[in-house]
Amino acid sequence: MRTTRRGISRLTAGAAVAFSLLVSSLAVGLARAEGATKLAQDMMGPGMMGPMHRNMMQRMMGGALPPGIDPALLPEPDSAGARILQYYCVQCHNLPGPGMHTAAGWPRVLGRMNMRMRMMGGMMGGMMGVVAPSRVELDILLDYLQKHAQEPIDAAKYPDLNTQAGQAFSTSCVQCHALPDPRQHTAQEWPAVVGRMRGHEAAMGKFVPDKTTTAEIIDFLRRHGRTRE
Ligand code: HEC
Ligand code: HEC
Repeated sequence: MRTTRRGISRLTAGAAVAFSLLVSSLAVGLARAEGATKLAQDMMGPGMMGPMHRNMMQRMMGGALPPGIDPALLPEPDSAGARILQYYCVQCHNLPGPGMHTAAGWPRVLGRMNMRMRMMGGMMGGMMGVVAPSRVELDILLDYLQKHAQEPIDAAKYPDLNTQAGQAFSTSCVQCHALPDPRQHTAQEWPAVVGRMRGHEAAMGKFVPDKTTTAEIIDFLRRHGRTRE
């Protein structure tokens, strides 16, 4: 009784909450279908949901959800933090990479996601089967996300940000996260990272720079990249 009343008042509390619940319930099935974790795979009935739902979800909410990262590309993929991320954070959407936010930005985002997991697990846990991390797991996860977070550029150190290439970089690469510090990667590494970002841009419906502009951005990053591993 009490749970139901609380559930209803929460639902009526705001359209945003109702909407995110709808989205989350849709998405849980999608994540299952993807079979992103062993457990999810084990719990998933054969043929449940399927890629059709996931595609629908991508079209509906692609601009607001993580576009997803290959687990093999996660930093320290075997660490406890990476495992917790892969276990809890694929229940509703693709696997989020730690580079999506700065260390300062993660606590707020993680808090929002944790609230969602608790609400979904508490209110309709049986139905949706959403699980939330423990306090300890949450702390490990936050440490992991912050350790590998996006490192924002110190603009004062890059006077050539107002050249054409610098401008191309600043307008393209700030669409989804803080403008990245070019020293996060070596000149050798940058082209692949930029290539991956183009995939994210397409998936999230953001502006995708043309070939010439992309070459300028890569040049800029390579010029300022770390020289050694
Ligand atoms: C119960 C469903 C659910 C779970 C589980 C979940 N998310 Fe989300 N997530 C959402 C929804 C819905 C959105 C889009 C709306 C929003 O941003 O609040 C979203 C969006 C995001 C975004 C993009 C928006 C932004 O602010 O950057 C990130 C990053 C993210 N989630 C990270 C995570 C992480 C990390 C975890 C695991 C701790 C997680 N999510 C677990 C439902 C979920
Ligand atoms: C459409 C959204 C979007 C745009 C635009 C975008 N990024 Fe990202 N970026 C992401 C997401 C999502 C992640 C986390 C997943 C990942 O690492 O692929 C990320 C992570 C990163 C990371 C940390 C991961 C790593 O491999 O070091 C760097 C650095 C980065 N982006 C650089 C850039 C640069 C440079 C640009 C401009 C060319 C750019 N991003 C544009 C979405 C975007």
